[in-house]
Amino acid sequence: MGIESSCDETAAAVVADGRRILSSVVASQFDVHRKYGGVVPELASREHLRQIVPVVREAMSVAGMKLEELNAIGVTQGPGLVGSLLVGITYGKALARALGKPLIAVNHLAGHIHAAFLEAYQTGQEPQLPAVCLIVSGGHTVLYEVKAGDGNEEFAYRKIGGTRDDAAGEAYDKVAKLLGLGYPGGPMLDRLAAAAGNAPAPVKFGPTKTRGNPLDFSFSGLKTAVLYHVREHPEYVEEIRIRQAALAAGKRTFEDLLPLCSQRTLGLIREFQNAVVRDLVERTMAAAEESEVETILVSGGVSANRQLRTAFAERARGLQVFFPNRDLCTDNAAMIAAAAFAKYKVGTFAGVELNAVASMPLA
Ligand code: KG4
Ligand code: ZN
Repeated sequence: MGIESSCDETAAAVVADGRRILSSVVASQFDVHRKYGGVVPELASREHLRQIVPVVREAMSVAGMKLEELNAIGVTQGPGLVGSLLVGITYGKALARALGKPLIAVNHLAGHIHAAFLEAYQTGQEPQLPAVCLIVSGGHTVLYEVKAGDGNEEFAYRKIGGTRDDAAGEAYDKVAKLLGLGYPGGPMLDRLAAAAGNAPAPVKFGPTKTRGNPLDFSFSGLKTAVLYHVREHPEYVEEIRIRQAALAAGKRTFEDLLPLCSQRTLGLIREFQNAVVRDLVERTMAAAEESEVETILVSGGVSANRQLRTAFAERARGLQVFFPNRDLCTDNAAMIAAAAFAKYKVGTFAGVELNAVASMPLA
């Protein structure tokens, strides 16, 4: 079983042999955090406490199994919010202890990498190593080189790039917030950008330059450019106010919000997304070339983005690109169970002293 509670999703899943998903249950906390436009750590911990027992119960029921039939309990140790992580860790410890089964500590980022493999396995594919993996979510934007491990670990990781400031998903969420388009922003901006068609571009965003490591990302400049553009053009004020009122009245679906967006706003969103996607794809392709790999893995919440998927497919001719499906892109526990399995095979278990680690590097 995998248990995940690092941010704002309480999740539990049962995975067989690290490959077959028997159940994957995710309780999201969007409704709790929405009015704050972002995750509030204290509220997140409280929600995890409320959700963990029913979520685990449902994962067992969907899998059609009894707790006693589990072989091990894998739990996210970090990175993430300490209070949130502690709920999953404490619960996992208690469960492992009560069942007399091993407890396995999993790095959340290793989980996201395993999500890409897990998806490939579901369709009978085997990603070839070495590979370059882009993890792109609300909390992370990072590039790893992934190689076969040394026997003790399934994979060996080397970090080759990361974000200097905001994660890509964070930029999506902040831009959506400032445009009055709700939370989380990624899925909404994804659909609005697709609906923009040939709307004229009110502004163009050039490629992001970063000094030093050319594989590093930076998204705060782009976010600020959107903010300044909106501030300098009073034409946006009224429609933002109208959308905020709609959100406050519970009208927050794509169908609710699309008619409240001018061509100018749609054009702006399309340009923002073009800039983010271009940056993610170009740097990942550069990493693949530099590392001379033929496999690219893309994972994390933003990898659900449709334009990102098409852009990779078009750009990466000759290379194999693997994306998890939507459910495996965002935080889930199947990826944690899959990552735990590799450690289970070699007997790398955690003790009762296991503690949460807020900033836990993968490599
Ligand atoms: O992996 P995840 O569930 O949680 C973190 O570990 O952060 O990712 C959530 C992030 C949010 O910022 C959300 O806006 C973004 O992923 N996201 C998307 C899309 N779906 C989710 N961003 C762009 N396009 C999407 N379709
Ligand atoms: Zn994540």
